Amino acid sequence: MRKNIVAGNWKMNTTVSEGVKLATEVNEALNGVDAKCEVIICVPFTHLTSCKAVCGEKLHLGAENCADHTKGAYTGEVSASMVASTGADYVILGHSERRAYYGETVEMLAEKTKLALENNLKVIFCIGEVLEEREAGKQNEVVKAQLESVFSLSAEDFGKIVLAYEPVWAIGTGKTATDEQAEEIHAYIRSLIAEKYGDQVADDTTILYGGSCKPSNAKGLFAKPNVDGGLIGGASLDAESFMGIVTAF
Ligand code: PGA
Repeated sequence: MRKNIVAGNWKMNTTVSEGVKLATEVNEALNGVDAKCEVIICVPFTHLTSCKAVCGEKLHLGAENCADHTKGAYTGEVSASMVASTGADYVILGHSERRAYYGETVEMLAEKTKLALENNLKVIFCIGEVLEEREAGKQNEVVKAQLESVFSLSAEDFGKIVLAYEPVWAIGTGKTATDEQAEEIHAYIRSLIAEKYGDQVADDTTILYGGSCKPSNAKGLFAKPNVDGGLIGGASLDAESFMGIVTAF
């Protein structure tokens, strides 16, 4: 059975004290509800250890990236084993901002994924097309090519991957994919997984939607059979709106 998940992606926001306050608020709110999904906050590297200290049983922690090397002379990088040593259990990889601004390629992301899994981190792997690709009707082709980073994994390792479909044109723009657009491409992504790994693995894979998801549109999106939750940017920076999405299930 696949899991429903709501994951926050804080991006490059909050100081450590602001982040700890936010994590504390989310944790407390979560303790007061019967959430029908797993809840994760993905936070900046600098915040992992102090946020871990305020995450209770119900709140999972993740990083937003990790390095494509194990250790050594890579000034400024943070390895998967360093992330794991903070107590985090997830890492976001392949976010469109990393691909666009930091030149992350399919090959680099395959390496990052491998290292994350070797360090027992679960991966939230992001895919999604830009506006011109959507307008040219190329979204299926684009996500298929991006999936190559994770399609070389064994079925067992692929089972530790959560996919996040995030159309780049919907990220931080206030423009959400319609429920039908999300369902259509999520179903296509699941069919690709079925082709590669079989129906059971496809059925068990959690596929999140991301891009201007908020309390007002989460219910409609999450009601779709192939949308198993959300990766939330802007709306995860406020405990109340994040919880409004968590309780949309
Ligand atoms: P957004 O970001 O919710 O602010 O659109 C989503 C994401 O980039 O993960």
